[in-house]
Amino acid sequence: MPMPRKLFVTTALPYANGNFHIGHIMEYIQADIWVRFQRMQGHDVNFVGADDTHGAPIMIAAEKAGKTPQQFVADIAAGRKPYLEGFHIAFDNWSSTDSPENHALAKEIYLDLKANGLVSSKVVEQFFDPQKNMFLPDRFIKGECPKCGSKDQYGDNCEVCGAVYAPTDLKNPYSTLSGAKPVLKSSEHFFFKLSDPRCVAFLEQWTQDGRLQPEVANKVKEWFTVRTNPDGTQSEGLGDWDISRDAPYFGIEIPDAPGKYFYVWLDAPVGYLASLKNYLNKTGVDYEQYMADPALEQVHFIGKDIVTFHTLFWPAMLKFSGRKTPDRVFVHGFLTVNNGEKMSKSRGTGLDPLKYLSLGMNPEWLRYYLAAKLSGKNEDIDFNAEDFMARVNSDLIGKYVNIASRTAPFFAKHFANEMQPIKMGSLQGVPVPADSAGFAVALAHSAEIKTALDSREFSKAVRLIMEVADAINKEFDGFKPWLLAKTAATDPVAKEQLAQICASSIAGFKALSIFLKPILPKLVSEAEQFLNCPNMTWDELALPLDPAHFIPPGHKFNPDNFIPPGHKFNEFKPLMQRVDAKQLEALFEPPAAPEPEAVLPGGEPIADTITIDDFAKIDLRIAKIVNCEAVEGSTKLLRLTLDVGEGRMRNVFSGIASAYKPEDLIGKLTVMVANLAPRKMKFGVSEGMVLAASHADEKAQPGIHVLAPWPGAQPGMRVH
Ligand code: 2FM
Ligand code: ZN
Repeated sequence: MPMPRKLFVTTALPYANGNFHIGHIMEYIQADIWVRFQRMQGHDVNFVGADDTHGAPIMIAAEKAGKTPQQFVADIAAGRKPYLEGFHIAFDNWSSTDSPENHALAKEIYLDLKANGLVSSKVVEQFFDPQKNMFLPDRFIKGECPKCGSKDQYGDNCEVCGAVYAPTDLKNPYSTLSGAKPVLKSSEHFFFKLSDPRCVAFLEQWTQDGRLQPEVANKVKEWFTVRTNPDGTQSEGLGDWDISRDAPYFGIEIPDAPGKYFYVWLDAPVGYLASLKNYLNKTGVDYEQYMADPALEQVHFIGKDIVTFHTLFWPAMLKFSGRKTPDRVFVHGFLTVNNGEKMSKSRGTGLDPLKYLSLGMNPEWLRYYLAAKLSGKNEDIDFNAEDFMARVNSDLIGKYVNIASRTAPFFAKHFANEMQPIKMGSLQGVPVPADSAGFAVALAHSAEIKTALDSREFSKAVRLIMEVADAINKEFDGFKPWLLAKTAATDPVAKEQLAQICASSIAGFKALSIFLKPILPKLVSEAEQFLNCPNMTWDELALPLDPAHFIPPGHKFNPDNFIPPGHKFNEFKPLMQRVDAKQLEALFEPPAAPEPEAVLPGGEPIADTITIDDFAKIDLRIAKIVNCEAVEGSTKLLRLTLDVGEGRMRNVFSGIASAYKPEDLIGKLTVMVANLAPRKMKFGVSEGMVLAASHADEKAQPGIHVLAPWPGAQPGMRVH
């Protein structure tokens, strides 16, 4: 037996400012499958997570909710359990970056880096909210784009023209917290000197020595020669990293620097170690000793958006504070839903994990589906409802579960629920499952499936597993056991053939169950119950050779040891329901719109969301009604002559005759859509539209109300 591996595995720590979304669940399922697989190999794994609790956004969200940050993050933490238990995600420990262990460890690491000459300080000028008395993170500053002038753009980039800039470039900036005009204020910040030649030399080697996925290593390589600054310009090589923030800040106070706190990303990854330490303390294991074992492998599962933190800052922090660095950083892509439609809760296109569970959908459908899609590369995957249903119903249930449900009744009826000896090869001229048969395919594929699971190529593993299931089903169909069963009572050859096909199929089912156990822990524990084979391990697929039996080439395996003849099966109970299309419909049904009458006096619901770009297409102008007259032949329309400052008049027909006398409107200002395509009407061409308010049901609630600007507006001004 090779020595068991010693693994310390984490997933990215989620911000404690909201519930898990499907992206979190995907990452945790990916890591959980890998951890379960390693444990099945007899390896020793500690798998931990924690909430990432610090930073300005959480502090501000807590204030808005009327809670202390501590209470706020505790409330979020309290909501984690239903997700983790619901999807069979078995972390050994779930802690918090606000734990005493994390406060202590983050300070220790910082002091070690400082002692090593890798912390510097510099005065930095930043926007400060004079009303809130705090420095503003970029995302809390808005203003006019310095390039295109669009209003209400964030401090780092313009959503209208795509320009990238620094918050100090914004015109007329304001704080989104108070609305106040931010002022520039200087403050001392601490920096981790990533540009130090020691760090650069270490990282150039560490990131390129094969521990990262090739596509990730290649991306990281670029950062050693060029980096993008916050204002969109590019500089050479690795830059120093600003690791401090000023009070008020929810975080860990920096030793010997009152009023200064670690930037959230400094103490977040330390949370991996802190959660492990917290867990080991509970289980009576010495943390220092555990970490000092040279055989320990430290593995982080993360998304592609946080690669810099995990492949530059974090390993350098660990290395130069005299600690062990990660052995592997496994990067995955994003999950899109239904053909890459951007996830949006309001549009109802997202996949809400709790809604999934509350609809009674089986969590293992999702685990299986995600496994079938995850390649182990840094690639995005798509959740597609039709594909999901097909894979679960046709593959998982139609192929794997089906083998047990079609074999079990024969065992019950003809063999007193007892395993029959497997005689692979030939048996006195009686055709029995050959060495190409389903069960032999299972044995032949087992090493490749194991390698695929170990290297996180879950989609490849699932494909191979389904190939095995196909071979078993094909063999089963070929023997037509339903016909053999008819004559088995009187024909010993038929009975022997029935015994052989059932024994071979059930052994194949057991092999498939072993392969699928990390992906489908609950389903396979039910299969173990039926098979009466508790706690199956991978090693059972390599039981010692017994020369009395035919062995497929390369396999030291005795099928009779796998499920011994005479072994008693338990009563078979259906293992899994099929996905119902209605469940998927319900899952993606948008949240019910509010009852219009109850909520909106206008009598109609708010229309679908549009973007600022959509709105910008509509050119609204202040218009002066220079003339207004009745339209002969129409009781509804008035003819308006409008001035929008173009040096010409516009002719506009408006259906407001029931509400206004022409003379009451002359000389007044209103708002018009100035870029509406001219429309030919019975009475002439209408060159625009005047804005007016009315109830959706004009009969039930009559009345039309033309819009008028507040005093000061001039004809021709644009309405934003
Ligand atoms: O991006 C995020 O969601 C961060 N909260 C991840 C932190 S990972 C680790 F460093 F804690
Ligand atoms: Zn712009």
